Formats: sequence, structure tokens, C-alpha cells
Amino acid sequence: MNRHLASLLPYPFERLNALKEGIRPTSNSPHVSLALGEPNHEPPEFVIECLSDQTVLHRGLTTYPATRGDITLREAIAQWLKRRYFIDADPDTSILPVNGTREGLFSLGQAVLSGEPNAITVLPNPFYQIYEGAAFLRGTTPYYVPATERPEIEEIPTDIWQRTELVYVCSPGNPTGYVADRELLSFLIDKAQQHDFIVAADECYSEIYLKENEPPIGLLEVAASMGLPKFNRCVAFNSLSKRSNCPGLRSGFVATAIALTTGVRCPSMCRSQVNGHG
Ligand SMILES: Cc1ncc(COP(=O)(O)O)c(C=O)c1O
Repeated sequence: MNRHLASLLPYPFERLNALKEGIRPTSNSPHVSLALGEPNHEPPEFVIECLSDQTVLHRGLTTYPATRGDITLREAIAQWLKRRYFIDADPDTSILPVNGTREGLFSLGQAVLSGEPNAITVLPNPFYQIYEGAAFLRGTTPYYVPATERPEIEEIPTDIWQRTELVYVCSPGNPTGYVADRELLSFLIDKAQQHDFIVAADECYSEIYLKENEPPIGLLEVAASMGLPKFNRCVAFNSLSKRSNCPGLRSGFVATAIALTTGVRCPSMCRSQVNGHG
């Protein structure tokens, strides 16, 4: 057994259920659900049509999907990244579909964290629990940055940066709705170059915003504008779960500069690959 398993904390919804145990609503007020954050809107009709297509269904059910995903899918993701963030991500080397970003966010931690007892994973607080699970299971210490109106990432002391191997940033943030600005993301990217760690941006809420002409900025977009066209030490996640109301599809992607062809064999090797060839 992984000796770090015991350090995992119960999921928030388990804790919430325990807190709600035996409580009955007392008024006729409308019910505001604080349960699992499923979308309240319909998925696009063409997705339903496609999934109902007998030929597509048959092919999908009778073949193993490749880990790298279909090139058509990776190209579509690359085109979306171009339209949305004006970046050139190579569909062959920079994009990997994931069966849900939750799984991808977790796996990234297992791949890039060294497991050294002194290592630190920086994450917002409150947070999407998988960040903490990934940090704990690799035996790193989480360093929590309060998710205030503007998280004080600049206040993180140097000795913490020196031990940091991975930073999870969630923008737009769950649950606060905080949107990271260019200044904050470029500060993080600079620190990552300086102290040799990975920034993982969870951007699954990127398409939910108030002003039509002000979409939230993305990590890779900022990295590219800083002259890091291969997004050194930057990894961004996105998902169809929120933007397309399709959490059941388990379809998302991770975009990065880790060359898919070299493979990931062990955490320390992955770390040097990520850092050396970004
Ligand atoms: C902040 C955040 N990141 C990631 C996810 C995971 O999304 P999925 O695994 O469906 O892509 C969620 C889902 O609620 C979330 O709130």
C-alpha cells in the first residue's frame, strides 16, 4: 500500500453529507443545492445526435481508445486553443486528451512530483480536492494560498518557492470565481523558471464569464506572450464538463510541452524532461 494513503482527507461532499445528516428543510424557500457541481443546462444537441449515431456508437464501443487520443480530436483541440488563446500548440507533441481533467490533474502530480519529503505543492484554499489528494499521495506538503479576492501568491516566501515542485492554479476559480490576471500568471511563470517547478492551470471554467468581450486569460497564452512559445514548465487543463455541460462524457485535455513521444517513465526522469526540454 502507498503509505501516504492514510493522509487523504474525506471528499467535501462526504463531509457535507455528514453535516447535513438528519437535517430537514424547515421553510418553503427555493432549494439551493450545495451538492456536486453538475451543470444545470442542456448539452449541445449535436453531441446527443453524434452519440446516438449507430455507426459512431458501434465503432466507439468496439475499439480501445488510444491513450494519445485520435489525431482529429487533438487537431480540434489545437484549433480551439488557437481561436481562444491565440497559441500554437502542436497536436502531436503538446496535447493529450484526458478522461476527465480530475484524473489528469491527479496524474500530473503523480508524474512530476519527486516524492522527496521536503517537496511542496502550492494550491489555493479552498480548492478542488484532487489537488490536495495528488500532493498527499506523492508525500509532498501542501502549501495553501488563501483564495481571497486576489490570492497573495506574491507573498509566498522564497524558502517555500525553493522547495516547490508543482503549483495548482484554478482560474476562473472554484469556488470563489476569482479570475487570475496576466500579472499574476506571469509572476508564477517567472517563479517557475527561477525555481524549476511546474505550473498546472485548471481552466475548466474558462468559458463561463460575465463580459462577452472579456474572456479570462489563460496560462499558455501568457507563457507564449512572455516569449515561451513552448510554454516551459506550464501545463493547462480544460474540459467539456462545464463549457459544454457534458461531465458524463469524461472528455478534457491537457496541453503542455512535454514531448509525448519520449514517454514518462519515472517521476525524477519526467521532472527533468519537463524542465529540461520545455
Ligand atoms: C475546479 C475544477 N477542476 C476540475 C474539475 C473536474 O472536471 P472534469 O473531471 O469533469 O473535467 C472540476 C469539477 O467539478 C472542478 O470544479
